[in-house]
Formats: sequence, C-alpha cells, structure tokens
Amino acid sequence: MEKLIGKKLSTAVFISGKGSNLKSLIKYSKLKNSKIKIKLVVSNYKSAKGLNIAKKNKIRTKIINFNKDNLVENKLLLVLKRNKIDLVCLAGFMKILSRDFIKKFNKPILNIHPSLLPKYKGLNTHKKVLKNQDKFSGATVHLVNSRLDSGKIILQKKVRVYKKDTELSLANKVLKIEHELFPAALDKFL
Ligand code: GRF
Repeated sequence: MEKLIGKKLSTAVFISGKGSNLKSLIKYSKLKNSKIKIKLVVSNYKSAKGLNIAKKNKIRTKIINFNKDNLVENKLLLVLKRNKIDLVCLAGFMKILSRDFIKKFNKPILNIHPSLLPKYKGLNTHKKVLKNQDKFSGATVHLVNSRLDSGKIILQKKVRVYKKDTELSLANKVLKIEHELFPAALDKFL
C-alpha cells in the first residue's frame, strides 16, 4: 500500500444494520486530514438503517442480495470497479466474502470486530467475555483474508469489564470505542 500524500482513497463501506460505524467513518472522512472519501455504501439488507445515514450524506448506495444468486460477488466486483473503489471497510457487515472475491478485488479490505482478536472470532463475543469473566474486552480492526476474523491486526482498543455488566451494557461500551477505533486504524494503516 503506497503511502498517500494528500490524496483521499475512494472507499466503499459495507453494512448490514444500524450503521453507527458508518456514521463515524463519514464524520472522519469529512475531516481535512482524513485519508478516505466514502463514495459508496453497500448493504446486503435492503432495510438496513445505515442506508438512511448514507442517503442523508448523499452517498451512493447499493443493495446486494447475497442470498439470491451466486453471481452476486461478480456483480459486487463490477460495482466496486465502476466506482473506482480503492478500499473497502466492513462496518457491521454480516456476510462472509469468499477467498475468490478477496483475491479478485486485490485491494485492502478492513473489518471491525467487537472483541480483542484473536480471542472470540465469530459471533456472540460479549456473551463469551461475560461467561469467561474476562476483565477486559474491546474491538479490533483487521485486514480481511479468507479465514474469518483472522487477518493482520491493525489496531485494537480495550474496555474494562465489570461484574455488573450485561451483554447489552458491554455491547454499548464496545460499540462506543469502535467509533473511535475505526478512524484511528485508518490513520494508522494509510
Ligand atoms: C458492531 O458491533 C460491529 O463490531 C459488528 O456489528 C456491529 C454493528 O454495528 N461487526 P453498526 O451497524 O456499525 O452500528
């Protein structure tokens, strides 16, 4: 990844839900020194609330139904090519991209995951943290490769877990630091 001097990378953000990470990435992208400009928001779910955030910010959106046809990844690659996308950020995106897609896109794909990887890959991270009575949890931004939540770690941020925490209170605590973490990870990576 060549170092960027002044140029903002054309970025696509993939979502599936609320889009609170998308919102923080949009805010970051508007900063003078940010290294990204968000050109496209892709969702696998047509009712994802994050799509409204994209529209409010006049960002092009694309719904890709991953369940419908197996050519969906080729369609997605075409959309990314047409929009000259140089970087993909997965922000609450709940679909797994194939090895073939990652190879063909051949540019960086970053994901944010709500645990201190390599601990707790996959789903239900907060439940596992509480069950194991971990003192810390947090979030991780990592490069996406063909193995789930296993790419090179770019940046992590910790939160303290207390006995009184519930899955909900922990999820909210982690989500809050995610919103600082993703922009900080982009600054570090780019
Ligand atoms: C976040 O906790 C993220 O880490 C996980 O999905 C959640 C979605 O958040 N992958 P949002 O859609 O960005 O609000």
